[in-house]
Amino acid sequence: MPDVRRRLSQLEFRKALGCFATGVTVITVDRDGEVHGMTANAFTSVSLDPMLVLVCVDHRARTHAHLHEKKRFGINILCESQRTISEYYARSIETHQHAEQAGARFDQTGHGTPVLRDALAYLECRLQSAHDAGDHTIFIAEVEDVVLREGRPLLFFRGDYQEIGKVIESSSLPKKP
Ligand SMILES: Cc1cc2nc3c(=O)[nH]c(=O)nc-3n(C[C@H](O)[C@H](O)[C@H](O)COP(=O)(O)O)c2cc1C
Repeated sequence: MPDVRRRLSQLEFRKALGCFATGVTVITVDRDGEVHGMTANAFTSVSLDPMLVLVCVDHRARTHAHLHEKKRFGINILCESQRTISEYYARSIETHQHAEQAGARFDQTGHGTPVLRDALAYLECRLQSAHDAGDHTIFIAEVEDVVLREGRPLLFFRGDYQEIGKVIESSSLPKKP
């Protein structure tokens, strides 16, 4: 039988993935007292017990080596006023001065992990395992602590930053402990 499968282009693949609306995070790692950050939306929850999350990082990103080396990092979920921070950490060259211009201010956790002040939430993570998958690595991490703030998330959809729309139906999930 003839093979009738068409050849999927990378552009189509990327466009399809862009239909999946996500939040935006910045992964933060300590580098000898300096903060290294990388914008990432390939982030998801993995397990509740133990509490695990994952983030997929391109082999070419500097963050890739930093996560392997440091094994502790922050995942900072951005709020809608932090778009310039997302843009800044999606660039490959950075200086501390420019990070401040982009509005990024950091705190340090007890483990010395830098976390973004005023993020909607941050997760303090410890690397559990790393799995190569194509040109990315899936970093799975245990979440040791979280801090949440009031606010609205920054969204990414079809290559554009967006703000959240209206609530369609109130969820039955508990909102407060
Ligand atoms: C909205 C958005 C989401 C991104 N998500 C990811 C991601 O999940 N994984 C990744 O490797 N790169 C992602 N990138 C690209 C990186 O942020 C970019 O390549 C960055 O320059 C890498 O920085 P580094 O080399 O300092 O680690 C994303 C970029 C944007 C704008």
